Formats: sequence, structure tokens, C-alpha cells
Amino acid sequence: KTADFKLSVNMLRTNGLLPSSGDIKLQAENLAAQATTHLICWHFLFCLYTTKMLEPFGKQGDEKFGLNSELFNNLKRGTTLVEYSSPNIAKKFHAGHLRSTIIGNFIANLKQSLGYNVIRMNYLGDWGMQFGLLGAGFGQFGCQERLKQNPLQHLFEVYVQMNKEAEHNENLKHAAQDFFRQLEQQECQAVSLWQQFREITVNEYQQVYKRLGIHFDIYSGESCHLDQAQKVVQQLQSQGLLKTSEGTGVVDLSPDGDMSSVCTVLRSNGTTLYITRDLAAAIDRKLTYHFDEMIYVTDKSQSNHFQQLFQILLAMGHSWAERCQHVPFGLVQGMKTRTGEVVFLEDVLDEARARMLDNMSQSKTTKEMDDPEDTAEKVGISALIVQDFKGPLQSDYKFDWDRMLQAQGDTGVFLQYTHTRLCRSVLTNYLRFVCSYDEVLYQSAQDLQPKHLVNFLLKLCHLIAFAHRQLPVKGSPQDVAQARLRLFNGACSVLANGMRILGITPVDKM
Ligand code: ARG
Repeated sequence: KTADFKLSVNMLRTNGLLPSSGDIKLQAENLAAQATTHLICWHFLFCLYTTKMLEPFGKQGDEKFGLNSELFNNLKRGTTLVEYSSPNIAKKFHAGHLRSTIIGNFIANLKQSLGYNVIRMNYLGDWGMQFGLLGAGFGQFGCQERLKQNPLQHLFEVYVQMNKEAEHNENLKHAAQDFFRQLEQQECQAVSLWQQFREITVNEYQQVYKRLGIHFDIYSGESCHLDQAQKVVQQLQSQGLLKTSEGTGVVDLSPDGDMSSVCTVLRSNGTTLYITRDLAAAIDRKLTYHFDEMIYVTDKSQSNHFQQLFQILLAMGHSWAERCQHVPFGLVQGMKTRTGEVVFLEDVLDEARARMLDNMSQSKTTKEMDDPEDTAEKVGISALIVQDFKGPLQSDYKFDWDRMLQAQGDTGVFLQYTHTRLCRSVLTNYLRFVCSYDEVLYQSAQDLQPKHLVNFLLKLCHLIAFAHRQLPVKGSPQDVAQARLRLFNGACSVLANGMRILGITPVDKM
């Protein structure tokens, strides 16, 4: 109904029948009376009767259209930082990262559409012992050529191989430790190799995110807050929050202060941990971006981590941690492609596209299109998203290509299918067509050929049959039914008038 209304308003506007501003409701009856074509007038009234969302109705394609502003009046709009996706360099992009990516994107889009200022951040796993293995491993098994050709694949291979070999090779193990030490001491060569890995990974990811229609304002990562992480430890110490337990630095989180529940923030060798870097990152983000709220999107296995993070921030006196939130989600089982396990985000997207292309080529209703691959990709992705978003985020679910790609049933394919039908048939075709009655008469008047009018009437009949199915009168609420009846009466008048011009007498029964 909303789309109908939007289209009508737009058509009135492009036909010069609707002033660009002013009270639509007030002028509706007037306009209807002025409208030159029966159907446009009836259709417009129909839309007025059937939609309660007159204001703000916006322009066609306006993303604010249909938002009832009163509902959102008391939202405290501010700056929201959403951190999502956050894959680890040289490691698998698993189903959890995919979920984080699409859920985080949803949250960011949602907030943005409600008028928040949104900062989209990707927090890469770009630090830790894995870079010792990767850096040293690259010297052993790496190849610059292959790194350029297929960066993510190659880094992953090197990492996996090095990991395996180092298990029973003390030399390699030491090489890895040594490389990480060089990194931590900021030695040029090590740092520049690490930087190359990071850059190349970000570039690759950006390409794949683009396929999902996703972008990030900031690519941050664990490596960005190393100095600050050390400062956080000092701060904890000066605030009396840092305790030692078996050589490591811990924060006591137990309610009774008896160390029955602690969080380790410093290793015995003086290096920081995942949580220490998260503490530093959070404090740094607050200072840099002045967010009003911050949302982390990861799987639920990290819930505890984030609860500890917020608790420590509060203990340090950062009351804004109250407005930090972890959005946890469940596990996905059985995400596989035809060739096996999913290692990279690209694999899932390729598979979705390939399967959708197959389905499209088998379907009788598939239309000719300019770029079937692109359509298959978009529809395939919507299938992934709808499957993922249907249940509560916290629930685990089983990944099922066949079910999610069904054209009927509650799938993303069904959403897309309905949208294309609405775009193509009911709205654009039907309305634009019906409104061309006067043009057709004009055309016939120019060359005195009846074919323009006959063909117009025949096509009108097909469209009416279609509209009958889409806009049933029987069984609809009274006001809707009434408006629809008027619409069909309008169509009936046009048909009858046209027939009479042709010399045909319309009959009422047959
Ligand atoms: N890179 C992490 C992982 O793959 C997720 C990071 C989540 N965000 C954070 N601020 N800790 O598990």
C-alpha cells in the first residue's frame, strides 16, 4: 500500500498534477477531480483510503519513507560505534565472522536509518603469537608471488603449515618466538613484513565486503593499542586494581573481593592479552570518537570476555562502560560448500551465487536480464541473511542451502521475488500503462490507426486480470475493499469508453 501510494504521488508529481509541497491530504480530492485519467484519480483515492502513513510520505526511494516519527520522538540519538566482522589475519573466516558481519551491518543500518550518527568499525585480529608463526613461517614456506596472486589463501596456507611443523620442530618454534619478539620490539624488517600482511588482507576483505554491500569507516585492530595496553596496566596498578597471582597480573572481579573470580591482564613475561588490548581499545575509542554508545557483535562464546571488559572499565571509573553492549549470537552448524569446508568469506558468497544461478536457470519464470551473475549474487546473499536473521540471534542454527534458497516459503528469495513483481508488474507497468490512455487516444488521432487503442485495451485487460489477483476485493477490510472497487470501476470506465470509440458496444453479461 505504501509503495502504491508513493508511486501514485510520484506519478502525479511527474505529470505536473501535484505541487511539490503543501498538504497532500487537503488537496487530494481536488487533485482527483482534476486528474485527466480516470484511473490515476481512482488510484490516488484508493491509496489515500488504504494507507495510514501519509506523513511523512517522502519521495519514491526515500529511506525515511514510512517512519512514523512520533514513535521515535524520545530516542536519544547520538553517536553509536558498532564494531563487527573483526576477522583474524591468516586465519579462517568462519561462520561466526559471517554472522558478525551481517548482524553488525544490520545494527549499523538500523541506527543510521533512525538518525543516529554511526561509526562502523572492523577490529582485526592483527596481533599475537600467530604473527610469530606467520612471519617466521613466511621465511620458510612463503612466496611473494603467490602472496600477490591469492593473498588470503597463501597467508592461511603458510600459517597452517608452520603451525603444524612447529609442533615437533623446536627450531621453528624458536624462530616463531623470535619473530614475535622482533615485532614487539618494533624491528624494521619484521614490522614491514607484518604491515604488508595486514595491508594486503584489508584490501582483499574490502573487495569481498563490497559484494555484501558492506563498508567500514575504520579498520582498527589489536595492534593499534599496544602502547596504550601497557598504560592500562599501569593505571590498574596505580588504582590498586592490579593483583598478582602466580606471576601474572590479574584484576579481582569477585563480588566479595576474595579473588574467587579473576581476569588475567598481564602475562608473567610482561606481555598483554586480548582483554588488555580491548581495554585500551575501548578507552582510546571513547577519547577519539566520543561515542554515546558502543556495540560489539561477536558469537556468544565471548560473552564472558565482554562482561569482564565492561566490569573492569567501570572499576577504573569509566562510567560510559554502562553504555557499552555486547550483542551475542549463536553458532552455525554445517556451513559447507560443494567443494568442502568454508575457509574464506568469498567461498560462501561464491557458493550462494552459483547455487542461485543454477536455480534461476532451472526456473521457468526467470526473466532475461543484463547481468544474471549479479542478480544471482544479490538474491543469494539475501537468502543467507534471511536464514540467519529469522530466529533469535542467540540461537544456534543449522545451515541449509536448499532450504534457504527456496523461492516459496519464508526465504530471502521470496522477499526478492515479491519485490521484483511489485516493481515490474503491479506498480510500474499497471499504473504507468493505465495512465497512458489519453496518450494512446492522441496517438490514434495523429495517424488515424485504431491499432494503438485496441492494443492498449487488450493489454489493459491482461493487467486488470493480474490486478484482480493482487488486489482482491472480497475478503479485504471494508475501506480497502471499497477503494479497490472504485479502482476497478475506474478501469471499467476506461475499457468501456475505449471500446465505444472502436465501435464496440460493451455488454454487462455473457
Ligand atoms: N577477532 C576476534 C575473533 O575472531 C573478534 C574480535 C571481537 N572484538 C573485540 N573487540 N574483542 O574472535
